[in-house]
Amino acid sequence: MIKELVRKNRSYRGYDSSYQVTKEELLDLVDCARLTPSSINRQPLRYYLAWEKEKVELIQSMTKWAAALPKLTLPHPGMCPTAFIVICQDMKLAPNPFLKDVGIAAQTILLAAVEKGLGGCMIGNFNAKTVKEKLSLPENMEVQLIVAIGKPAETVVLTEVGEDGNTAYYRDDNDVHYVPKRKLEDIIL
Ligand SMILES: Cc1cc2nc3c(=O)[nH]c(=O)nc-3n(C[C@H](O)[C@H](O)[C@H](O)COP(=O)(O)O)c2cc1C
Repeated sequence: MIKELVRKNRSYRGYDSSYQVTKEELLDLVDCARLTPSSINRQPLRYYLAWEKEKVELIQSMTKWAAALPKLTLPHPGMCPTAFIVICQDMKLAPNPFLKDVGIAAQTILLAAVEKGLGGCMIGNFNAKTVKEKLSLPENMEVQLIVAIGKPAETVVLTEVGEDGNTAYYRDDNDVHYVPKRKLEDIIL
């Protein structure tokens, strides 16, 4: 079960825009993240939820997708996610970045989304200062990672990294997205 969830949990960059993710679904995803481990159990992460059209469009406009495929504009027009979870850190609770906590929370959110028949994509490519300003976040909040959520509407295929060691993801003419993963024997020391 867990392996199947992990396999299905790809970085999706194309969504069914007619499927509206609800606030309740987002709350349930964060409720899973709430239960994850946290360094010295400080739990400094806070979550900004966006499901309303204007907020979602605002966040979409501040995110950059698939930098490794500069010739493509992803998501394609009309295929944007219908929700975002902006993971912030309360710097008053923890002044140093808790990036490991952020990763654990984000992956948990995405696995829970896949279990619901949804999917998403972690987005680290944004200007944190701009996002903080545009969302009117409190001074002590630092934006760490944005997680897109929606109903995936594209095919992502896992392949094996070949002899050349190239890990770059790519798309074919039918817009199928391929993600090379290293072989098990190549990652065990
Ligand atoms: C911390 C982190 C930040 C990421 N930021 C972006 C991003 O800004 N834009 C994007 O399109 N994908 C982003 N990704 C997705 C990666 O490109 C993706 O994980 C990788 O291509 C492998 O695909 P997979 O997630 O389907 O295995 C990010 C992933 C991680 C873990």
